Amino acid sequence: MKEQIIQLIVNASDLDTELVRGILEIPPKADMGDFAFPCFQLAKTMRKAPQMIAAELSGKIEKPNMIDRIEVQGAYINFFLKKELYVKSMLDAIDVENFGSSSVGNGKTICIDYSSPNVAKNFHVGHLRTTIIGNSLYKIYEKLGYQVERINHLGDWGTQFGKLIVAYKAWGSKEAVEKDGVAELMRLYVEFHKAAEQDDSLNDQAREWFHQMENGNEEALSIWQWFVDISLKEYKGTYALLGMDFDHYLGESFYRDKTGEVVDRLADAGLLQESQGAQIVDLEAYDMPPCLITKKDGSSIYATRDLAAIFYRKKTWNFDKCLYVTGQEQKLHFAQVFKVVELLGNDWAKDSLVHIPYGLVSLEGEKLSTRSGNIIYAEDILLEAIDKVKQIIAEKNPQLEDKEQVAKTVGVGAIIFHDLYNQRIKDVSFKWEKVLNFDGETGPYVQYTYCRCASILRTVSYDSKAPIDYSLLLDEEAVALIKEINRFPQVVLDAADRYEPSVVARFAMDVAQAFSRFYNACRVNVEEVALRNARVKLVSLTKTTLKDALALLGIDCPEQM
Ligand code: ARG
Repeated sequence: MKEQIIQLIVNASDLDTELVRGILEIPPKADMGDFAFPCFQLAKTMRKAPQMIAAELSGKIEKPNMIDRIEVQGAYINFFLKKELYVKSMLDAIDVENFGSSSVGNGKTICIDYSSPNVAKNFHVGHLRTTIIGNSLYKIYEKLGYQVERINHLGDWGTQFGKLIVAYKAWGSKEAVEKDGVAELMRLYVEFHKAAEQDDSLNDQAREWFHQMENGNEEALSIWQWFVDISLKEYKGTYALLGMDFDHYLGESFYRDKTGEVVDRLADAGLLQESQGAQIVDLEAYDMPPCLITKKDGSSIYATRDLAAIFYRKKTWNFDKCLYVTGQEQKLHFAQVFKVVELLGNDWAKDSLVHIPYGLVSLEGEKLSTRSGNIIYAEDILLEAIDKVKQIIAEKNPQLEDKEQVAKTVGVGAIIFHDLYNQRIKDVSFKWEKVLNFDGETGPYVQYTYCRCASILRTVSYDSKAPIDYSLLLDEEAVALIKEINRFPQVVLDAADRYEPSVVARFAMDVAQAFSRFYNACRVNVEEVALRNARVKLVSLTKTTLKDALALLGIDCPEQM
């Protein structure tokens, strides 16, 4: 119906279809019509007051049967549709297999580089955010038909591993590392820095060990590989809790034999310059500090490996886009790396390489369990959330079946939802009362709404095959709910366009709230069979939509909670 209205406006004016489509909106309140066409934007080109444009244009629009009336309010032309027809057209659109998906991405590949923790370091709350955001973007793009490659670019190479080997040999033991894993590796790392302050020769030893790694020394590589395996095992525990996975674990070490080629290409293109013994690409013309390519001792750095990774990914998957989800502090790093790719004559770099930054997580005022020191592990936060939900279940619904599983789904879901509910660039402040509030704007609230739908479908008897009489779904609250649900396909597109999972999280909340208003106003279990069937149908559509929307965030729905 939106398309038909666009056509009516185009016919009555000589405006461009795309322009009209961009301007036509769905007003926030029902008394402002089902669609509104604000004329502000046209004032400049038409050289008339927007109110005048609205008045004149509305006079020229012919009113087909589907429209009840057209009203001008100030600069707005408001379209009121015949409710019954409108409701029917929306329900027809909603009541399909895979509502919300699309084929816009067919034949296109998107690489998403996210999570990517640093070996021998704890998986912290920042990594939790990139994991949650990256996973949601994966689901969103997949829903739009894209081929998505989920890449974990582990920080598993660099001089820090030389330091770790020195520390392990001096103060470590196999038993302690095996027992305490990453926590012990972190302890050794701290130990190294303390000792190196007194004894600079340790730094030389560390550099030497890293050299050995780069030269393929077996002993060095086998200790390093062991650190990687131990760390990865812990990270995978966190991923398992989140129910998230990757297609490729290709860490920085994977590119160690591919950086030489990058250096050669840069040299051939005349882009490399020497600066105090190091090799750099000068980026002054682009208002950026130089991009460091190799250090004085010839070793590659983070940026070099990112350059190699881009060429590898382009060759392997021929991506349309490659997205990088990291904290804002890496903004400059990616701007430099992307610019260097472009300077090598790759025009695609401009549109296809995208950095997706996010804000900080602050835990101020929160008492969170820590294993040692004040180091926070994402896994502990997830486990604590699950534990807290277990307590709530024990208090409020001790008879519940599958308690463990439900506690996990709700606890983890609460953390994910809280992370994705605000625009990703905003900082997140973490408070248990906020995260787990079952009545607030939270994951548990949406899951609970889903469970209410499920319970209605279990307890109310209805005929799922009977044709639905749409004219029975014209109550204000029913129409409002249908309108909300109907937005889903556009919501998925917008979320993808803006790399913004919060658009989906907000949508899920809007649907849940619209459902509550509908449910309070309209009894479902009524005598009249046709009315009952129609309302149950709406409950069922709500249920499916909530589940699908939460799935795009990486959140599951329990049937009971
Ligand atoms: N390991 C890095 C960190 O923890 C993130 C890596 C992001 N991806 C990349 N291709 N640089 O900060």
